[in-house]
Amino acid sequence: MTTVLITGGAGFIGSHTCAELLSHGYDVIVADDFSNSTPQVFGRIQELTGRRVGAVYGVDICDRRALTAVFERHQVDAVVHFAARKAVGESTRMPVEYYDTNVGGTTNLLRTMQEHGVHRLVYSSSCSIYGDAGGGPLDEATPARPTNPYAASKWACEQILADVCRRCPEFMVVALRYFNPVGAHPSGLLGEDARGVPANLMPYLAQVAVGRLARIDVFGDDYATADGTAVRDYIHVMDTARAHRIALDRIADAPGMRVYNLGVGRGRSVLEVIEAFGAACGRPIPYRIVSRRPGDVPELVADATAAARAWGWHPTRDLADMCQDAWRFQRLNPDGYARRQPVKANANAKANDSRIGAVT
Ligand code: WQD
Repeated sequence: MTTVLITGGAGFIGSHTCAELLSHGYDVIVADDFSNSTPQVFGRIQELTGRRVGAVYGVDICDRRALTAVFERHQVDAVVHFAARKAVGESTRMPVEYYDTNVGGTTNLLRTMQEHGVHRLVYSSSCSIYGDAGGGPLDEATPARPTNPYAASKWACEQILADVCRRCPEFMVVALRYFNPVGAHPSGLLGEDARGVPANLMPYLAQVAVGRLARIDVFGDDYATADGTAVRDYIHVMDTARAHRIALDRIADAPGMRVYNLGVGRGRSVLEVIEAFGAACGRPIPYRIVSRRPGDVPELVADATAAARAWGWHPTRDLADMCQDAWRFQRLNPDGYARRQPVKANANAKANDSRIGAVT
């Protein structure tokens, strides 16, 4: 049995990857600071898979002592590293925090892995490193030209991982450059439950559809695209989670670092997504056009054939599936994972659990 530590495992892609790994025989432990997630997701994962996450630790990825304690308690065989700040627009307003968490957290993790002889890592990277690379599908050889601190932090981490692999031949790293993961588990048990007002398009649409938000602002309709709104390559979170499991299955194929785009190879504009979500929820989504968002680029579409050639991995769900699954989760969980009625305090809860921030 292989034990995988998932940093950020309570988050949107992290929780779906947890469920995917548990369903395919991996043991899973999680370290998450719950800054943009909730431990309540783990009850859903158990309900879905019939298996428990082995241990969950409330850990800041930058806290070297807490992270070390996790590696000392468990024989970790591989790590999937999601924990990061991830909003493009926000990163332009708080660059230091983004570099601190995304780059500092990654180097902290790498040092801790090295000290404990753990050399297998799947890294959550991003298509945003390509910057304004123009239209048309982008393959992994596209030069990195990040245009915001979030993207620059992801590109910096990829370069650090490449240097570590050059220095330590025992390291095996797969970096997955996500385009736009959206949607939810088709059961409606797992989905995107961001803290506060969502920064991303799909969860924002879901909250408009369920009545939590009034309408969506479309950030610009003056781009050189078919309808003037920006184009992205949306990929179902279930296809994204499956790619992470396959990356782990195949991580020992070769030493060193490999990089794969995760997308469907087709761009959709903001207005197309708004229309698709309206079809999924059965009523039009109100919107208004406003000015562009700082850091945005006109178009980002993947050439994801490298992952198909290497692993035989193909995305299997289309935009309608993504909207229907996202809407089902939001409709069944209008307030996200939070329960409507207040939860009774757990009388058995120890006042100060002596474990390192253990939450379950
Ligand atoms: C999509 C489009 C917006 C909100 C995301 C993640 C980032 C990375 C790449 C993984 C853009 C427009 C959005 C709104 C809008 N993923 N929009 N009104 O910016 O492509 O980045 O994917 O690493 O982590 O943030 O995604 O969903 O924010 O925006 O018009 O209220 O929708 O301008 O064109 P983005 P997004």
